[in-house]
Amino acid sequence: QNVRYVKVGGKEDAATVVLERMRQELEGGLRVLGLATGSTMIPIYEAWAKSDLDFTDVTSFNLDEYVGLSADNPNSYAWFMNHHLFSHKPFKETYIPDGTADDLTAECDEYEALLRDAEIDLQFLGVGENGHIAFNEPGTPFSSTTHLTELTDSTLGVNSQYFEDESAIPNTALTMGIASILSSKKIILLAFGEKKRFALEQLLKGEATTDYPITALLSHPDVTIVTDLEGITD
Ligand code: GLP
Repeated sequence: QNVRYVKVGGKEDAATVVLERMRQELEGGLRVLGLATGSTMIPIYEAWAKSDLDFTDVTSFNLDEYVGLSADNPNSYAWFMNHHLFSHKPFKETYIPDGTADDLTAECDEYEALLRDAEIDLQFLGVGENGHIAFNEPGTPFSSTTHLTELTDSTLGVNSQYFEDESAIPNTALTMGIASILSSKKIILLAFGEKKRFALEQLLKGEATTDYPITALLSHPDVTIVTDLEGITD
């Protein structure tokens, strides 16, 4: 079974479980970490920030970034990462796609080349209510690499709640592709709350379909799903 389910009591419990897993991975020689954003990750990073974990030999790659938002914009994922993790824990190097690059296609190609050289040991993922991973929306080919993508109405609707002016949410983003994500040696996906049940149910069905990008994980050899949802675990 390539997908393991870990049932947790809630977000705080998950933060404890993930902290211990991170400790083991660091002791085991982890050097390249794939990081995610979104509210799901906040308690996880908070626990890391307060811990004695040492990331000074670790290089990180983030999954995605909104087009047009720079690191000084509180809605950018660069700002999110600085605020929740990097300002508390020094890393060797941190990479996030640059959504303000003049040539977005070149930026994606460069990011993909960096990823390929680095080889991610462990990738964290959240999941969108429509089953998206990173910003790979339904319909994205499983062979996709880092690319410019248009966000769906579902994603814009859910994510606009974090923008003071909801209409200010960019409708395009740069994202690692599904193939980029699958090239990570190990994956941990976190999903809390009933809003994520539909997405996890698609994975549980065991059929890979581009309609639900999360199902691409079925072909990966080492996936851990951490969830508080009853009846999802095996
Ligand atoms: C965004 C991110 C995803 C994240 C998702 C879920 O769309 N691009 O990487 O998994 O939001 O966010 P949340 O954790 O807030 O539910």
